[in-house]
Amino acid sequence: MAKENKNELMEKIVSLCKRRGFVFQGSDIYGGLAGTWDYGPYGAELAQNIKDLWWNHFVREQENIFGISTPTIMPESVWRASGHLSGFTDPMIECKKCHHRFRADHLDKKYLDSKKCPDCGGELGEEKAFNLMFPLNMGSSSDSVAYLRGEIAPGMFVNFKNILDTIRPNLPFGLAQIGKAYRNEIAPRDFLFRVREFDLMEFEFFLKEGDWEKYFEFWRGEMWRWIERVGINKEKVFELEVSKEDRAHYSKRTIDFEFEWPFGRKELYGLAYRTDYDLKKHSESSGVDLSYSDDVTKEKFIPHVIEPSMGHGRTMLAVLVSSYVEDEMNGEKRVYLKFPPKIAPIKVAVFPLLKNREELVEKSKEVYKILKKEFSSVEFDDNGNIGKRYRRQDEIGTPFCVTIDFETIEKDNTVTVRDRDSGNQNRVSLDEIVVYLKEKIK
Ligand code: GAP
Repeated sequence: MAKENKNELMEKIVSLCKRRGFVFQGSDIYGGLAGTWDYGPYGAELAQNIKDLWWNHFVREQENIFGISTPTIMPESVWRASGHLSGFTDPMIECKKCHHRFRADHLDKKYLDSKKCPDCGGELGEEKAFNLMFPLNMGSSSDSVAYLRGEIAPGMFVNFKNILDTIRPNLPFGLAQIGKAYRNEIAPRDFLFRVREFDLMEFEFFLKEGDWEKYFEFWRGEMWRWIERVGINKEKVFELEVSKEDRAHYSKRTIDFEFEWPFGRKELYGLAYRTDYDLKKHSESSGVDLSYSDDVTKEKFIPHVIEPSMGHGRTMLAVLVSSYVEDEMNGEKRVYLKFPPKIAPIKVAVFPLLKNREELVEKSKEVYKILKKEFSSVEFDDNGNIGKRYRRQDEIGTPFCVTIDFETIEKDNTVTVRDRDSGNQNRVSLDEIVVYLKEKIK
């Protein structure tokens, strides 16, 4: 696809997200805060469904992953030990005239060579390492400095001993969480792709050093399975073996899962072998022994770690890009989001064929109540003609529309169930509708 078309696709997705109440600019009525986004009702449902599916896939359906939840604020000592205060940086260049800041590694070579600002033509300053952590002053004492977490992993490392002492798991096992991370990005951009506040879905998988390659491969496979399950087009995902120079300070091997975004091929997820770096550092720094004792061999050692890390906002965006379809139906152009039913914000919409026929409306409300009880995310709509109602639901990705018509009432108690992607309609008995839809939505 040509570059213009690709950017056009991005504009269409951003516009649909705003128009249909998925995503708005953060603090919009105050002019917007760069790098923050608010989720409206459909966006919040989609976001939650993705988190639930992730939790099922990587926590509940696994035998040895435990979910935890830890605060977004952690003290300076944690970040000093983890290396974030010194190493969690991006290269930054500031214009001496307009003071706009740029990521040096994202700046076009012509600006780097000429030292000219792309925005005002002023002179660019020297490259500096810019730390991405957000500091906070806590409470009344001036020396209690804390930070909003730049990654969620330390929450898992500082709880390693708590989990050993209470749950008593054997290696290998994982600690997972979903939660906010904050990064003072120099140049947030590309909608949900690079933001300053985002949810991360990740886990630390603790193991014996000799097992790391086996489990690296295992979780690599599970990440591919997840990519397919959540509705990301896997034809657009590519693995990149990250070079030593580009790896994070804690990693001995990293694979990036890159996605073909409308604005270019860039990172979607990461899979890293963090060795015993973090547990060792936190053990040394806190003075608490974070080693594991093997009951069978009686060995005592600091476990090594494999870390699959998946950005939630990037998942949302990759799902939106993968789901966005334009086609023609009954001679009309239409747009639909072909979400897997499991993550669709609305699972079923219920319509009376005509708004002004009391018997149809009454029966539709009855059906709506039954389906609402079963599937929760169900909408009732009697606004405008039926074609328009279908289009509205297509645009928000509702997989099934149920219409109550005269046949329902006068003939055989059946309704039409319209399939979003094909537009095909089946007549289904109201006695079987719940089972029929459950089978399709599971
Ligand atoms: N614990 C490892 C870690 O945090 P990372 O590569 O820095 O690794 C993990 O980030 C994931 O978080 C990325 O693969 C990406 O999906 C997401 N991510 C990173 N920075 C982001 C940002 N500024 N905005 C949105 N998502 C981001």
